[in-house]
Amino acid sequence: MTLTPLQELAQSLVNCERCKLATLGRSQVVFGVGNPQASIMFVGEAPGFNEDQKGEPFVGAAGKLLNDLLASAGLSRDQIYIANVIKCRPPNNRDPEQDEVETCKPFLLQQIKLIQPKLVCTLGNWATQTLLERKVGITKVKAQAFHLKDFVLFPLLHPAAALHQGNLLPTLKEDFKKLKEFLDKNTKPAEPANTTQTPTAPVLNIESPQPAQMDLFG
Ligand code: URA
Repeated sequence: MTLTPLQELAQSLVNCERCKLATLGRSQVVFGVGNPQASIMFVGEAPGFNEDQKGEPFVGAAGKLLNDLLASAGLSRDQIYIANVIKCRPPNNRDPEQDEVETCKPFLLQQIKLIQPKLVCTLGNWATQTLLERKVGITKVKAQAFHLKDFVLFPLLHPAAALHQGNLLPTLKEDFKKLKEFLDKNTKPAEPANTTQTPTAPVLNIESPQPAQMDLFG
């Protein structure tokens, strides 16, 4: 069977030993899951216990909350693609280390290049800072669209943050409302059949960059 380039990339990482996480108790590499033709991609930090067991991102408690939040924005998991910055579980769910991010980031960038999403929603500080290539706090940039070279970045709080700090949940829900507004404004009406686009994937038509937003980075 011929593999797609995305499947080939996944295959090339199955036995990855490029960083120390390979020897620190991971069960498997958690590559990513979802619609390979998605126009919307979500990027988290790293697999946790449940993700490491199942081999899929966001299948634990944070994943359940993410599913509800996606539904509130009119999205389902089969319409989107979900990956993490780091593909292997850090021991005891510790934060990723710089060398691990640097080792794994090229594979996230290749996933993005192959999937070609129009919109990438980063969940939390790690994913946001990795793709923005700036050390900027999530609370400063969340729920806004940043027009990067190849896609629009829409940072959001990490669902796990709202699980740990219940007072963040209303903000997270509000931010997904803003995501829905952004999608509603930028989604083309459905086209008739005979299109190559997967029927369930929303077709985003995002307007041109707003350079003034870059001021936010100060
Ligand atoms: N948190 C993440 O950042 N990613 C997952 O896959 C699960 C929890």
